[in-house]
Amino acid sequence: SGVVTYDPGFMNTAACRSEITYIDGEAGILRYRGYPIEQLAARSNYLEVSYLLAKGELPTAEQYAAFEERVLRHTQVREEFRALIRAFPRTAHPMAIVSSAISALPGFYPEVFEVTDAESEELASVLLLAKMPTIVAYVLNHVNGEEMLEVDPSRGFIEDFLRLALGASREEEFGPEVVAAMDKLLVLHADHEQNCSTATVRSVGSADTNLFLSVAAGINALSGPKHGGANEAVLTMLEQIRDEDDDAGSFVAKVKDKSSGARLMGFGHRVYKNYDPRAAIVKEATDSALQALGKRDDLLDLAMGLEEIALSDDYFVQRKLYPNVDFYTGLIYRAMGFPTSMFTPLFALGRMPGWIAQWREMMHDPATKIARPRQVYTGPAERDFVAIDDRR
Ligand code: CMC
Repeated sequence: SGVVTYDPGFMNTAACRSEITYIDGEAGILRYRGYPIEQLAARSNYLEVSYLLAKGELPTAEQYAAFEERVLRHTQVREEFRALIRAFPRTAHPMAIVSSAISALPGFYPEVFEVTDAESEELASVLLLAKMPTIVAYVLNHVNGEEMLEVDPSRGFIEDFLRLALGASREEEFGPEVVAAMDKLLVLHADHEQNCSTATVRSVGSADTNLFLSVAAGINALSGPKHGGANEAVLTMLEQIRDEDDDAGSFVAKVKDKSSGARLMGFGHRVYKNYDPRAAIVKEATDSALQALGKRDDLLDLAMGLEEIALSDDYFVQRKLYPNVDFYTGLIYRAMGFPTSMFTPLFALGRMPGWIAQWREMMHDPATKIARPRQVYTGPAERDFVAIDDRR
């Protein structure tokens, strides 16, 4: 009815109200449920943040223990489910396998297909949260041609994920610093209000679509190089600069000459017009993580050089382009032993608590309506059909 506003990319349209995440892009502020990301990254952990995002409050010690125990009880997946992962060619992109696996989950666990009350909602959320790291790890095992180890809940959520994912190819276990670094990266990715994938989860879920299938749609959205695919694209870019014997300065010049089509991947953000607070934390963590892993990476020096040149260049200053969370994360993942193609699945693992919390909030919001944007039609006016033999 009446006037339709044309707003491509929803630059100025709020599609929901939310109590979950607050961002002030001008000031570089990010908070989950009111808590600054800096404090959560330093003092909380992935499971606690998952609880916080979905339920609105930090758990007490007792609530945390019960939640952790419940999640750890559901980390294993059935053998038939592993066979589904193995059915993919080993050359398949891991995001395609992860997305398919999440879509398949309600087929294997039909008890969570329909969320009808608080208990089934909680079970569906716990199941998805619990099985995601196992799925990501098994997808990596498959593309690497390695065996899928059995889960070991006694090790703790993040430690066991790292063991499942990378254990088969490592002689020693990761130390606590590396487990903590992984945990911190996941906390930093846990939610980011109405980004492309989360808006997709809400949009799909607004049709009363099941949690798993809504989240699978979000995973597909995340795979795009302008969104979660950027962490992979950053590493590809850094390797390309190194291998083509380019230097940071001439690459930046190429980016500024827009006809090249090159973008400085890991730079720029729709809402941050200041340093992405997550990027600041990751940058700081990168050095210590590489040290804990005993790895030096010439690509880190290259990345820091690129950042320095970009931040003092008028092109980037005028457009308020700063490093985003994806600029440094890949360097840590790579040092841990993850191949580049696994970076976006790791982003998906991190974002899972946010997708779940946002889907739940949407489902409980009486103001939710099925997502159905309007359009501005620009096609032909009415015309008569022409028989096929009369067309030229
Ligand atoms: N390198 C060079 N120029 C850029 C970049 C970049 N990375 N990002 C934006 N610009 C320019 C763009 O060409 C445009 O210039 P002009 O005004 O002269 O036409 C201006 O800056 C505004 O860019 P935009 O594309 O209109 O901004 P947007 O808000 O639509 O896009 C973005 C945001 C993240 C898609 C974009 O900055 C980008 O493509 N960055 C690289 C990919 C990336 O790192 N994505 C990860 C985002 S953070 C994690 C996540 O949430 O997924």
